Amino acid sequence: MGITRMIYMVTMAFSLIVLILSSSTMGYDYFQFTQQYQPAACNSNPTPCKDPTEKLFTVHGLWPSNSNGPDPVNCKPKTKVPQAQQPIDPSLKPQLEIIWPNVFNRADNESFWNKQWDKHGTCGYPTIKDKNHYLQTVIKMYITQKQNVSQILSKANINPDGIGRTRKLIENAIRNGTNDKEPKLKCQKNNGTIELVEVSLCSNYLGKHFINCPNKIPQGSRYFCPIKDIQY
Ligand SMILES: *[C@@H]1O[C@H](CO)[C@@H](O)[C@H](O)[C@H]1NC(C)=O
Ligand SMILES: *[C@@H]1O[C@H](CO)[C@@H](O)[C@H](O)[C@H]1NC(C)=O
Ligand SMILES: *[C@@H]1O[C@H](CO)[C@@H](O)[C@H](O)[C@H]1NC(C)=O
Ligand SMILES: *[C@@H]1O[C@H](CO)[C@@H](O)[C@H](O)[C@H]1NC(C)=O
Repeated sequence: MGITRMIYMVTMAFSLIVLILSSSTMGYDYFQFTQQYQPAACNSNPTPCKDPTEKLFTVHGLWPSNSNGPDPVNCKPKTKVPQAQQPIDPSLKPQLEIIWPNVFNRADNESFWNKQWDKHGTCGYPTIKDKNHYLQTVIKMYITQKQNVSQILSKANINPDGIGRTRKLIENAIRNGTNDKEPKLKCQKNNGTIELVEVSLCSNYLGKHFINCPNKIPQGSRYFCPIKDIQY
């Protein structure tokens, strides 16, 4: 075999490996940091929440997402340790309980965190390294980086008093807290009114810079937020 042919074969083999590696690591291109308004989340559940709600947006999950195509879920573990068995660092729990309660069953917050990790967090590799890094990243975003949606809204004097508001007002308030990037809003009908149930803040695949959320809820979906009379 000539040297040229040898170089050609090695180059081809190398390209193939790079292709395989990148296709398995690039299953997402941005993050959605989704927060739910507790009273509305409880209204959406067929079985009412057992415990009283707080009038707060708390974490639903941090979701690696794909701007062109389906969002990845339940990704294969990148480590030898089975993901479900990785213990949660106890030092993270006090903060997680405040920002990420299982509103449907507060006696079991951990299963909520574990389910979100298994379904979504596992797909955030290489930005998200492992389960505790996933949980830490959420704490960092919500607390350190002030991505608390309740706080962002209250800075614009939008407080949870059950008043109907325009979509523009809500969007502008959130843009003011996210470097002028568009959030994704989710609304639902509840007994004749339309309530704001979830807000997602979007950032690039490193989770570092806000971006306009690529996939808004389309008009016609039952979760679309109308231009006015959105209750919060
Ligand atoms: C879950 O979090 C809530 C705070 O929302 C807290 O009151 C509750 O004690 C936590 N549950 C457990 C089992 O730690
Ligand atoms: C989030 O913001 C709300 C409204 O300002 C505030 O009451 C709550 O304590 C904040 N949560 C955290 C963990 O900072
Ligand atoms: C925009 O954000 C700044 C800084 O947090 C705040 O002082 C101001 O009230 C906000 N304005 C609106 C319209 O939300
Ligand atoms: C539904 O709305 C009506 C009218 O606004 C009110 O009278 C009624 O109590 C509400 N029902 C529930 C279950 O909240």
